[in-house]
This record gives sequence, C-alpha cells and structure tokens, in this order.
Amino acid sequence: MRITLRLILSLIVVVVTVAVISAWFNVRQEKLKRYGEVRDQAALLAESFKESARPNLETGNTARLQKLADKFQDQKHLEGVAVYSGDGELLAASSEIAPEIRGRGKQIGELLASGEDAEFLFGERRVLVHPLKLTFGEAGNAWIAIFSNVSYVELELFQIWKRTLIRLLAQMILISLVTLLIIRWNLVDPITQMAEWMKNLRIGEENGHVPPIKGDIFAPIAREATTLATNLQAARRAAENEARLRQKGESLWTPERLKEHIKTKMGGRPLFVVSNREPYMHIKEGKDIRAIVPAGGLVTALDPIMKASGGTWVAHGSGEADFEVTDADNRIKVPPEEPAYNLRRVALSKEEEDGYYYGFSNEGIWPLCHIAHIRPIFRKEDWKYYYEVNEKFSKAVLEEIADVKEPCVLIQDYHFTLLPGMIKAARPDARVAVFWHIPWPNPETFGICPWGKELVMGLLGADLIGFQTQFYCNNFLDTVDRTIESRIDWEHFSVQKEGHTTMVKPFPISVDFQQPDRDAKTLPEKPEAASVLKELGIKAEKIAVSVDRIDYTKGMLERVKAVERFLEKYPAYKGKFTLIQLGAPSRTHIPQYHRFLAELHAEVDRINWRFKAKDWKAIVFLEKHHAHQEITKFYKIADACLVTSLHDGMNLVAKEFVAASDDHRGVLILSRFAGASRELKDALIVNPYDIEQMADAIYYSLVMPKAEVEERMTRMRQDLHENNIYKWAANLTEELMKLRLDDFKLNGV
Ligand code: G6P
Repeated sequence: MRITLRLILSLIVVVVTVAVISAWFNVRQEKLKRYGEVRDQAALLAESFKESARPNLETGNTARLQKLADKFQDQKHLEGVAVYSGDGELLAASSEIAPEIRGRGKQIGELLASGEDAEFLFGERRVLVHPLKLTFGEAGNAWIAIFSNVSYVELELFQIWKRTLIRLLAQMILISLVTLLIIRWNLVDPITQMAEWMKNLRIGEENGHVPPIKGDIFAPIAREATTLATNLQAARRAAENEARLRQKGESLWTPERLKEHIKTKMGGRPLFVVSNREPYMHIKEGKDIRAIVPAGGLVTALDPIMKASGGTWVAHGSGEADFEVTDADNRIKVPPEEPAYNLRRVALSKEEEDGYYYGFSNEGIWPLCHIAHIRPIFRKEDWKYYYEVNEKFSKAVLEEIADVKEPCVLIQDYHFTLLPGMIKAARPDARVAVFWHIPWPNPETFGICPWGKELVMGLLGADLIGFQTQFYCNNFLDTVDRTIESRIDWEHFSVQKEGHTTMVKPFPISVDFQQPDRDAKTLPEKPEAASVLKELGIKAEKIAVSVDRIDYTKGMLERVKAVERFLEKYPAYKGKFTLIQLGAPSRTHIPQYHRFLAELHAEVDRINWRFKAKDWKAIVFLEKHHAHQEITKFYKIADACLVTSLHDGMNLVAKEFVAASDDHRGVLILSRFAGASRELKDALIVNPYDIEQMADAIYYSLVMPKAEVEERMTRMRQDLHENNIYKWAANLTEELMKLRLDDFKLNGV
C-alpha cells in the first residue's frame, strides 16, 4: 500500500475512533438529560394529580376521576394519565390514552407494584410510565400512572448521530485533501526535485553543490548531499585533469593519488603529524559545542593531506570544549562532518601554555625568525616550559606510534625544535621529518637565542628538515656551521653529527587547489560585489581584499598606509575604492600583539576619518575569525588581493586567492619578503616598506588591461594547479622514505 494511502487511512481511523467515541458520550449524555426532564415533569404531574384525585377516590367518584384525568391530558409529550386500584384494576384514564395502552392493563398493574419507572413500546411509540402510590381514607390504596411519550427523544438522538456522521465525513475528506497536499508540497515535490538533481549530478549535467531542498527536515540530507556533490565533482574534475595531464605526459597530484602513494611508499603504515595548532578546535556557543578551523597556513595546508591519507595528528587541545568531545585517550575523529583521521589532543596547563606557546615560541623564536624589527624575548622560565612541553608531546607521540614499526612522523614548525631528538632517542627506527613553516634567519640573528645550540641539536635529531625556500636551507646550514661541531655536506645539503645524518631540503608548501572552488560552490548564492558591500553598509566600484592573522609580521600597517597614499595620489578613486581587511585575532595575550592591534585600529580610524564620505569607507576592517567559505566569498569579488608581509615563510593566502580565481579575475599584489613571491612571479611584487610603490601597485592593479590580468592569473593558476599541497606531501614523504636509517642505532649499538 502506498505511504500516502497508509497515512490517510491511519489518520482517518484515528479521527473516526475519536469522533465516534465522543459522539457516543454526547448522545448518552443527551439521552440521560432528556429522560431526566421527562421524569421530572411526570413526577410533578403525578404529585399535583394525586392531591386532586384523593377526594374522588375516597368518595369512589370515578366519573370525576375520569374528568380530572382528561384535564391533565394537554401537557406536552404526555400520552395520558390513568388511575389504578391497589390490585391493578383500571379505575379511570384520560380518554385520549391510546387503546393499546389501555389493553396492557395486566402488565401495567405489575409495573405499578414495583413502583419504578418503566419504558414500553406501543406500536411505534415509546412510552415512559411513571407510577405514584396514593393512599386514601382508612386503608385505601391506588396508583397514579403518568404516560409520557419519549419517542421524540430517540428521534433527537438519532439526529445527533446523523449530524456527527456528516461532520465526520466532511472532516475525513478535508483531512485526506490536506494530507495529500502537505505530502505533495513538502515531500513529493522536493524529493522529485532532489532525485532529478541527483540524476543530473550523476550524468554530469548539474554543477551546483547545493541541492534544491530546503527546510528543517531536509537539512541533514541537504548537508550530506552537498558533501557528496562536492566530492563527486572534485573526483570527476581530478579524473579529468589527470586524464588531460596524462595526455601531456604529466600527472596531477590529487587526494586519491596521494592516498595511493602513501600506501605504497609507506607500506601501509599510518602517517603521524605533530603540530602545536590543532586542525579542529571545539568551542562553546551558548550551550552548544561547535568545531571551528583555526586560522593559519599550517592547518590550511595539512588538513587536506590528512583527509586524503588518514593517520593521526597530535596537537595541543586549545579549545575550551576540546576535552568534552574526546574519548578517554584524548582522541577524536575529524573532520567532524566526514571523519577521515584521528586527532590526538594534548592538554597543557595555563603555565605551560604561557611559557611554551606565548613565551618561548611566540615571544622568542617567532620574532627571532621574522625580520619585523620586533625584539625577541627569551626567558629562562619559558625555556623550561618549552622543554617540558616538548617532552610531553614526545610522550604522546611515542604512545601513538608504539605499535607501528618504522613509523613516519612529520613534525611541524618552531614549537617543537626539541621533539625530533626526543623521539629519535626513544625510537631510532622512526623516520622523523620536521617542516619549518616560517623563515630561518641568518646565523648572526639566530645567535641571539641563548638556547640556539639546544634548538639546532634537537632539530638535527630529525632525518629530514624541510624549509619553504632554498634560501632558508642555506641559512640553516650556515647556522649549524656556526653553532655546533658537525660535518656539513654542501653538495647534498646534509649534516652529519654523532653518526646521524640529517637531510635539509626546500619543500615550498601549497594549498589544495580545488578547495576554494568547492567552498564557493557550497555558498548559498554566487557572491556579487554589490550585495557583499551592501551587507557591509558601503558602496564601492573597486575592491581589494586582504586576509591575515593579526600579526605584526603581516605588514598590515604598511598596507593601510599604502591605501591612504593611493587615495592621496589618485584622488579619482576616493569614494570608489575600498580595502576589505579580514583579520583573525591571534596570540592576543602577548603585549606586542595588543599594541599592534591598537595601532592598527588607530591607523584605520585615522585614514577612514580623513577620507570620510557618505556610504563609503576607504578601509573596512572585519576583525573576527572567518571560516574558509566566508573568505572565499571575498576573494571572488576582489579586483585585487594585497599580501604585504614584512617577512613570511610562504603565505598561503596568496596561493588561496589564486586558487579561488576560477574566472581568472583579480590581481595579486605580493610582498617580495613572502616565500610565495619565489613561485608566484606573475603577481605585482612589492616591497612592503615602500609605501609609494605599494600605492602605485594598487593603482596598476585597478587599471591593468583585462587581458593582462587574465594572462597573469592563468599562469599562476597553472603553476599552482600542479604544485599543490598533495604534491608537497608526496615529495616530503617520498624523500623521508628514501632515507637510510642509521644502522648502528637500529641495532642498538
Ligand atoms: C603560522 C605558523 C603556524 C601557526 C600559524 C597560526 O603559520 O607557522 O605554526 O599555527 O601561524 O598561529 P597560531 O599561533 O594561532 O597557531
């Protein structure tokens, strides 16, 4: 039976049952009420008749009794009144009393003896008899019987039933109709559209990622369908690209290919990644817990790799609700919407976080490695915590790799310089790589660090150290040379120390080229500049976008000054050009970051005040954490993207902007001090300290001929398409697996 029919029938059965039961109670109630009324009336009549009848009975005057009975005849619904002797003999009766009643003398006599009301059927008529005993004289007995016609009550009850049933029928028709319409509008139509959409998706005639169904009940299906569509289209595109490149004798790195590569190269072993920052952070929103993706290039780059390869990522659990969602071993499967790998969270105390993360890592090593003219601060107390937290992570990693022979561990960044040495000491069979996401300074600069030797020694525990550029590799080897006794092979870029060899190589990190495109497709609407600006409450004809963690290395102050200079130099753009600056708050407990943020706000306010105009702003500063999907919306509407870091290991915002430009629009203005400038040569390369040059670059980006914009963007996209994050991971793991482990350590000598 069809579901619609089943639903309608069930509804009808329920409605009919309820209606019949309630009608039955109604009718019963009504019946009792009406009979009650008849009885009361009969009792009243009998009482008044009794008093008039008594003298006539005493005198035996039946003629008078007869008259009296006739007088009572005219009452409503009254059949008549009769008087019987004590032995049940009829003495007198209203003359209109029906003969069949008279004919039932014996029966009525018996009834009178019982003294109870009773009902009779006389032909078609239903009559209620109410008896009343009467005494007269010395010992005389007689009965008065009041005959009331109650047929009308039955008729009325029948009418009630009839009305109820007609109402029921109307209700059933209405319910069926409404049910049919509700099912049609809310279920059948959306499901049919959804099926059509899926069919078109399957045969490749549909490119959208958002299914045509809305509403609460379909929300989970819509979410899953979006993911499915995204994956399907990504797989299809990857296959097409693969086929296209194979034609050219090249091969594109895709998640699927990386997965296979890791499987074969690593002999089925899982991959272990360690970083301070976790890829998903659970935060509280009122009573709810929500997962967010923290800002920063490291997470942007590594999450797609882990999604493709699986494995375990060990990181600091820094979200306030992080440990409410993990299991007893502090593990959770991520991404939350489509679990693909394990996240092992390491808990740190406030003191540990202060000393190791805020202190040694971010007030010490971070400014040490970035030339942004901020003094590094090295405190003994911070160093102690830095050491202890590295040990803590080493314990967690050793637990994770305990059952894996020759495990492959990829350690990320400057938070863990001591970790490679610690892991290798406990597990010489582990293949350990470190990837240094930030710049490596020259030996003179590095020499400032009081624990420079320990840092270098810790790093040299790794089998492989990766940097973003060859230049940083050179700086590192120079630093090793100046800091410790070792053998450096400048030809092969390796260091030998105490019988252990560490390879040093550049691996310029990248992005998942397809991701911004997928993000854009999942947006509810195609981003339109006018509507995005309207949401921001401004109007503008040209838009530049910048996306940063709010950090003094990102050249944000220089950038806003360049916008000011640009508007000064090219006043025609006043009221027409706006810089939208998305800034994610970062490391907010560090005083230097506080000061920087305050200064940035003051500069933005000053410049906006200087050029104040109705419905327009020179700079819109959106200071909050933005999800990748939201950021993509801004990339898509931008005429230019400004990446003006004072110093940056790579800067993946530059690469994300290029990846998002599937229509080949938009000009990238890129700092020569960002690692990305070594690859993205078609960007307008600027010196962020040269405000005049940056102002001119903004101008040029806006007047650049369309053909040139497209040519530049096309070339950058081609390069990025090929050199994506999957290729980066494949190169790094391949290199690591190629290395010979130190035999003597493996044998425990
Ligand atoms: C840089 C570092 C990463 C870090 C990211 C975000 O990209 O190289 O290691 O994760 O900034 O900074 P945060 O301090 O928030 O982790």
